[in-house]
Amino acid sequence: MCGIVGYVGPQQAGRILLDGLSKLEYRGYDSAGIAVRDNDRPIEIVKAKGRLKVLAEKTNNGDALRGTTGIGHTRWATHGEPSVTNAHPHHSNDSSVVAVHNGIIENYQEIRDKLTRHNYTFYSETDTEAFVNLIDYYYKKYSMGPIDAISKAMVRVRGSYAIAVLFKDYPNEIYAARKDNPMIIGVKDGASYLASDVPAILNYTRNIYYIDNLEIARLTPGEVHFFNIDGDEVEKESVEIKWDAKAAEKNGYEHFMIKEIHEQPQAVRDTINSLVKDDKIDFTEAGLTDEIIGKINRIYIVSCGSSYHVGVAARYNIEKLAGIPVHVELASEFRYRSMPMDPESLFIVISQSGETADTLAALRLAKEQGLSTLAIVNVVGSTIAREADHVIYTMAGPEIAVATTKAYSAQLIVTYLIAIQFALVRGRIDEERYTALLTEMQTLPKKITRIFEDTERIQWFAAKHSNDKDIFFIGRGLDYGISMEGSLKLKEVSYIHSEATAAGELKHGTISLIENGTLVVGILTQNELIEKMLSNMEEVKSRGAYVLGLTTYGNYKTEDVADFTVYIPRTEEMFTPSLAIIPLQLLAYYISVSRGLDVDKPRNLAKSVTVE
Ligand code: G6P
Repeated sequence: MCGIVGYVGPQQAGRILLDGLSKLEYRGYDSAGIAVRDNDRPIEIVKAKGRLKVLAEKTNNGDALRGTTGIGHTRWATHGEPSVTNAHPHHSNDSSVVAVHNGIIENYQEIRDKLTRHNYTFYSETDTEAFVNLIDYYYKKYSMGPIDAISKAMVRVRGSYAIAVLFKDYPNEIYAARKDNPMIIGVKDGASYLASDVPAILNYTRNIYYIDNLEIARLTPGEVHFFNIDGDEVEKESVEIKWDAKAAEKNGYEHFMIKEIHEQPQAVRDTINSLVKDDKIDFTEAGLTDEIIGKINRIYIVSCGSSYHVGVAARYNIEKLAGIPVHVELASEFRYRSMPMDPESLFIVISQSGETADTLAALRLAKEQGLSTLAIVNVVGSTIAREADHVIYTMAGPEIAVATTKAYSAQLIVTYLIAIQFALVRGRIDEERYTALLTEMQTLPKKITRIFEDTERIQWFAAKHSNDKDIFFIGRGLDYGISMEGSLKLKEVSYIHSEATAAGELKHGTISLIENGTLVVGILTQNELIEKMLSNMEEVKSRGAYVLGLTTYGNYKTEDVADFTVYIPRTEEMFTPSLAIIPLQLLAYYISVSRGLDVDKPRNLAKSVTVE
C-alpha cells in the first residue's frame, strides 16, 4: 500500500517521478505528491488530493518543478484522512529533511510526544511526519550525517517502512531504508532510481538491487551504496529483471483488468512450461525433493484475498489426489491463533506480490516453529520469496489491475502440479494417470481461449444485471472455492454486495435473503455433486431467484433449472477452477464497465496490502 519512487541523475526528475508513480498507482490512489530539488535550491514539494492525474495537472506533468533529484508518493491512507496536508512528501519542522514513506509507524504517538518535548510541532495527522522529524532530531543532535541519523531513527521506531529521504544539506543524494515493506533500486547510465515495485522503473533499467530489511541505501547519480543499521557498508549484486516493459502497459486494451484476463492462456502456459520439463514435473529449482515430499504428514496453506481462494481450491485437489490432509487459513487469522502444528508438515504461503503483511507474518511464524516453508509467489525477489525455504514462481508477469486475474490463474496451476507430483511420489497415482493429467493440463490455455468466444453473451448479461443490489454465488466442493473467487471479483470491481455460500449452507441463513429477481450464480462442474447443486438451484429459484448456471458442456440438465447458462469446456475435474473462473471474471469486469466505474483501481482497495 502506498507507492514510492525516487530519481537522481542527469535529467529533470519531475516527469520521471510521475511516470514511475503512474505504474504504482495500483498501490494506493487517494493522494499523491513529489519533492524535487536542484543543487543549491531548496527542496520544492507539490501535493494533490485524488488521483495522480490531479498532481500531473498541477505540475504540468512534473515539468513545473526544476531539479534532477526527487522523490514521489502515491498514498493509500492509514493515519489521517486523504487530504493535501496528509499527502506525502512530508518535511521536518525546518524542512531540512523531506521524505516519502510506505508502511506504518506503530509508536508514532510516542515519538510525537518525545519530539514535542523538544519543541517540534506537527502539521499533519500522519505517522510519517513523526518519522521525518525523528530523523531530523538525530541528524541535528549527533551531526554524524544522514546514514547515522536514519539508523538511529530506525532503532527507535516500531512498525514497517520503506522510506526515501532528501536532506537539504546533501543535494544530488537520496537516502532510503526499509523494514518489511518493499523497495527496489535500479542504476543505469549515470542515474539511480528507487521504487516500491519493478514496473515503476522498468522503462529505465532492468538491473535492480534488492535492499534488505533494516538496510540503508545512499543513491547518487549512477551509483548506489548499501549500509547495515550499524552504518557498515554491505556489498550487493544487481539482478536482471526479465519482465517485458510492455507487459506493464495497456497495449490497446481499455483497462489492465481485461488485458490481464486475456493474458491468462499465456500465464498458464508459461507457468506450466517453467515447471514441466520433458513431460515431468520438475521442482528441483525450488528444492522440493521426493524425499521431502514423501515425509510430509500435513500441509498448511496460508494466504489472503484471492490467493486464499487458490488455497481453498488446492485443499480439495491435494486431499483427493495426494491424500494429504490440508488446512487452509486466512493469514490475518492464522497469525493470532495458537495453532498447534505438526512439525512434519509443509507450510505453503501463496502471494502474488510476495509482500502481503499478514502472509509474511504467517510465514515467519511457521519458520520460527521449525516448519518447512514453501512460497508460491509472482514477484521475483519479493520479501516472501526471499524468506521462504522453497520458492515456486508463477509466471504471470507484472499484474497491474488491483483485482487479480492472471496471477490467480497461474497460482492455481502451481497447486495442481503440487497435487499431481505429491500424488505420484507418495504412490497415490501411477505413471499413466500422471501423464494423462499433465497432458490434459497442457490443453488449458486453449480451453481458456475458447471461453473468450462467449464474451459477448456475458457482456450482455452483465449489462442487464449492472444495477442489481445483491448477487450470490453458490457451489459445492471445488465449485465452492470458485464461488468465493467469483464473488470477490464481483464485489471488488462492481461495488455490488455479493456473497459466496457453500450450497449446502444456503438453508442455514443465506436463503432468507433471496427475493424476487435476486441473481444467484450456481457453479456446477463436479459430477458427483451436480444433482445436489441442481436441487439447491431449484430451491432458490422457487423463492424468486434469477439463476445463472455455470457448468461444463454436457451437463445440459442445468438448462432445466437455470434461467441463463454458461458452458465451459470439459476437462479433468481438478482443473475446472481454471476454466470456470474466466466467465466470472468477465462478468465482474463488464458489470463494472457498465456501471462506469474505475475497474483497475476500485475505491478503497490496494493491490499490495503491506499493512495489517
Ligand atoms: C489484495 C489484492 C488481491 C490479492 C490480495 C493478496 O487484496 O487486491 O488481489 O489477492 O491482496 O495479495 P497477495 O499479493 O498476497 O496475493
